[in-house]
This record gives sequence, C-alpha cells and structure tokens, in this order.
Amino acid sequence: MLTLQVNGAAHQVDVPDDMPLLWVLRDVLGLPGTKFGCGIGECGACTVHVDGRPVRACSLPVSLVGARPVTTIEGLSDDPLATGVRQAWLEIDVVQCGYCQTGQIMAAVALLKANPHPTDEEIEQAMAGNICRCGTYRRIRAAIRNAAG
Ligand code: FES
Repeated sequence: MLTLQVNGAAHQVDVPDDMPLLWVLRDVLGLPGTKFGCGIGECGACTVHVDGRPVRACSLPVSLVGARPVTTIEGLSDDPLATGVRQAWLEIDVVQCGYCQTGQIMAAVALLKANPHPTDEEIEQAMAGNICRCGTYRRIRAAIRNAAG
C-alpha cells in the first residue's frame, strides 16, 4: 500500500510498485485528464507536476513518487496562474484535436510558475518535449506569451 499526495489530498493505493503513475492517476484515482500518448516518455501528453516540476507520468513508477505532491490538470482548476493560461489558450484558439493539450498546459503552467516572464527561447526550451500532431506550436507559444503578460 502506497500513500500518494494528489491534487492536495492523500490517497492510499494498492498497486504494483512499478505501475506507471499515469495509470494510477487514470485507472485507480479516476483522473482522466492526464493522457496516454507514446508511453515511453517522448511526447509529453502525460505531463503532470511532481513537486511543481513537469514530469512524464507514463515513465515514472509510482513507488518513486514518495511523499512528493502530484498535481494533475484537474488539480489546477482553481489555480489563478493556470486559469490565466487556460484563458490565453481560449483567446488564441490554440486547440485543434485537443489530445495533447492537457500536457501542453501542464508544461506551460510549470514554466510560468518557475519563470513568470520567459523569453521566446526559454518558452521554446520548456515546451520542446511536448509534441502536437496537429502542429499547434505557434499558437501554444503565442498563448504562453499572452499568459505571461
Ligand atoms: Fe508519456 Fe508520451 S505518454 S511522454
């Protein structure tokens, strides 16, 4: 039995130690906002925050999370910075198919929490690991610039 801190609450989970955090979030805790894309840490669709940092949940065995707080897209519903990011996403009309966008937003929020006014180069570096098959990259970068004010 493991105790996970997810979105501000403690959860006891009885799962194998090597189960990826992604499947614990989706299938055990019922938080489907975090998406499965590649499953090998390459696409960023499964991005969550662990201790405030962006992490690939598909590639993190749940037993390595420990007591560090995990935040998913569901946990950012009342977060002022994330609300600003979502508004910027809507204003720019970023989304096409939408599948990767929770991971994109999680990466963007982690960036802006660590660095409220990133340069274009810093945005590029922070977002480089989040792939969008619809090619919404330009709109994502513009939305991040808008959210940063
Ligand atoms: Fe985790 Fe692609 S599903 S990086």
